[in-house]
Amino acid sequence: MRAASVSDYRELARRRLPNIFFEYIDGGSYAEETLRRNVADLEAIALRQLVMRDTTKLDMTVQTLGQTLKMPVGLSPVGMAGMYARRGETQAARAAANAGVPFCLSTVGVCSIEEVAATGTAPWFQLYMLKDRGYMRELLQRAKAVGSPVLVFTVDLPTPGSRYRDIRSGFTGATPLQALLTQAVDGVTHPGWTWDVFVQGRPHTLGSVQGAVTEGRRVTDFLSWIARNFDRSVTWKDMDWVRETWDGPIVVKGVLDPADARDAVRAGAQGLVVSNHGGRQLDGVKSSISALPRIAEAVGGDLEVFMDGGVRSGLDVLKALALGAKACFVGRPWAWALGAGGQPHVEKMLDTLRAELAVAMILTGCVNVRDAGRSLLDED
Ligand code: FNR
Repeated sequence: MRAASVSDYRELARRRLPNIFFEYIDGGSYAEETLRRNVADLEAIALRQLVMRDTTKLDMTVQTLGQTLKMPVGLSPVGMAGMYARRGETQAARAAANAGVPFCLSTVGVCSIEEVAATGTAPWFQLYMLKDRGYMRELLQRAKAVGSPVLVFTVDLPTPGSRYRDIRSGFTGATPLQALLTQAVDGVTHPGWTWDVFVQGRPHTLGSVQGAVTEGRRVTDFLSWIARNFDRSVTWKDMDWVRETWDGPIVVKGVLDPADARDAVRAGAQGLVVSNHGGRQLDGVKSSISALPRIAEAVGGDLEVFMDGGVRSGLDVLKALALGAKACFVGRPWAWALGAGGQPHVEKMLDTLRAELAVAMILTGCVNVRDAGRSLLDED
């Protein structure tokens, strides 16, 4: 099958990846209400068709946090991408660099910050606060040393939400023997992945944090170590520590409420991502797109407002811009494309978003993404 849309990459990833990884990417927490809302609420927004405008010249570029983005899209941090394709984070980072958009490396990436930076472009770096501040400091210094331009500080995961699909698939909670059996069956039934990732894509550790993990060697051992080490005592006061340790721009990721957005401004953040972690944390909260307008209204003049969650096309990107986002990030779309076929597929997926955004701009008469506003929406 040739992929025409983001949902096609999902289908290709479903065929190529072992079930445990496909379900890990695809799933959300609990009954997945928020996950569905993220997508459904974007779908429900109507664009306005406006005709007979001169749209010969389109401008999609965005200046933000000292960077020029060739389009208002970025790759959200997604953990363990090196299990979806061989050294997956480096492949996705190259695809993003070729498309002129930022790639944000997760704390729990398989490839280390140094390995990704060696592709030629230092990624944005995403930080989870762990209890060991000494280790956190070292991580930030490493990110700085390779030239990471932006720190993304994820604040909506003081504890991981439960994902039923991961329990059912055996990704979490399986005994070592069950895990081995699942892996063996998955390996035999997905030979393409087995050769690409299982055989040639080693080591399967969490590159940036492996120095801190003492017990176990499997990726799932790392994840359970991380889960035990999330720091629930973190408050806005700890932003002082982050700012002292990191002298570049800081983007707070995981804000859904205007009150928190105002706190992020007071705490000295330069940007925030309106996000519910792709419906993977507190199930039942509102969708990112429905939270966006009030947050953009409250703090849009004070810092950069980004959003992620449910963006599945370039048309969705324009809807988010119309409601106040400076740019959108995508998580699953690039993870699916990576799982479907590595860097070339991530590049094609980004091309698709760009082409869709261009058509949406032309047919709404919006020639510059900077001018996208509510007038692009049919809100009757
Ligand atoms: C994530 N997300 C995430 N966020 C983060 O800050 N650090 C991380 O390590 C991860 N890991 C991760 C793994 C997987 C498989 C997914 C799907 C998501 C959340 C991610 O950055 C982003 O907020 C959502 O993916 C956005 O929603 P969509 O685009 O997937 O709908």
